[in-house]
Amino acid sequence: MRESIVTGEAAPGEEREFAGLRPGRFDDYIGQDRVLENLRIAVQAALERNEPLDHILLHGPPGLGKTTLAHVIAAEMGTEIVVTSGPALERAADLVGILTNLRHGAVLFIDEIHRLPRIVEEYLYPGMEDFGIDFVIDPGPHARSVRLELARFTVVGATTRAGLLTGPLRDRFGLSLHLEFYGVEDLARIVKRSSGILGVSVTPEASRTIALRSRGTPRIANRLLRRIRDFAQVARRDRIDELTSIEAMDISGVDEAGLDSLDRRYLTAVIRQYNGGPVGVSAIAATLNEERDTLIDMVEPFLLAEGFLNRTSRGRMATPKACRHMGFPEDGDDGRLPL
Ligand SMILES: Nc1ncnc2c1ncn2[C@@H]1O[C@H](COP(=O)(O)OP(=O)(O)OP(=O)(O)O)[C@@H](O)[C@H]1O
Ligand SMILES: [Mg+2]
Repeated sequence: MRESIVTGEAAPGEEREFAGLRPGRFDDYIGQDRVLENLRIAVQAALERNEPLDHILLHGPPGLGKTTLAHVIAAEMGTEIVVTSGPALERAADLVGILTNLRHGAVLFIDEIHRLPRIVEEYLYPGMEDFGIDFVIDPGPHARSVRLELARFTVVGATTRAGLLTGPLRDRFGLSLHLEFYGVEDLARIVKRSSGILGVSVTPEASRTIALRSRGTPRIANRLLRRIRDFAQVARRDRIDELTSIEAMDISGVDEAGLDSLDRRYLTAVIRQYNGGPVGVSAIAATLNEERDTLIDMVEPFLLAEGFLNRTSRGRMATPKACRHMGFPEDGDDGRLPL
């Protein structure tokens, strides 16, 4: 896992610690207006028809609020939520056990659904489509098929890699929603809301400064806020102003654009070793001695969204903005020989 304060991924136990910061209803949820609008309509329509909600797939980079939304959806529907994840469902029996215990209308939240084993997935399709599972008993000459009826339920699937889902699984979702990185205004509102819950006072300028360095990600905004709160407490400052937040964030290695050391190493490698690109992600991974998946899931989405990186058919390319930010000439050629 990426060892840094600005990874979007949750540290172990972190989400439990942050539980109080999680918005519980649509009205507390900040940002993602388009996603919210779709969900509000779907929920209201289902409630009016007195029917369970259609299956929903939420995709987007780590820390943007997929798990939070799954809980919000269940709360708005007034139903129970059962939480599991792709890797936790190792055998078909694990899934069948969960499905047969679901109550009518329940939300089954499957996190990291792209990591669901194929054989488990094959029980999930019919479950999602017809609310039943077919079993073969006594394989051999006397084989017979038995059907188990299930209550009508709603799968909310979450994934950072929608592209890895098989076609048939993707097709079972009536609603497929992509979460985008948050804008600075929304993140500043999230910082303000979280500071209220944590009982610390943060000036509007400081909220904005924190928002600018949060990589478009609420989880990172909350994490920075807590680090800064510690810093302010130890420094005996009774509120977090802009200077305090900058001092604290400089210590944690996050720059003004929200880039951390891995982001900067990534851009430096593309610009210096590969003359700005195009270069394949595997080559970058080898150069940095990092996992390819870490770069694809956690580093590149933000660099792409912020215009530091372009993805072309021939590979990744650093943009002039990246060169400027990293202090290289804009054509990516700093006149030095490749390392
Ligand atoms: N819209 C929002 N408003 C306020 N806080 C938010 C919002 N979205 C997310 N958060 C906060 O960000 C944190 C991360 O959100 P969440 O765990 O839902 O992300 P995720 O997309 O499920 O991440 P992962 O892909 O790592 O599972 C939560 O603790 C929550 O408090
Ligand atoms: Mg999650």
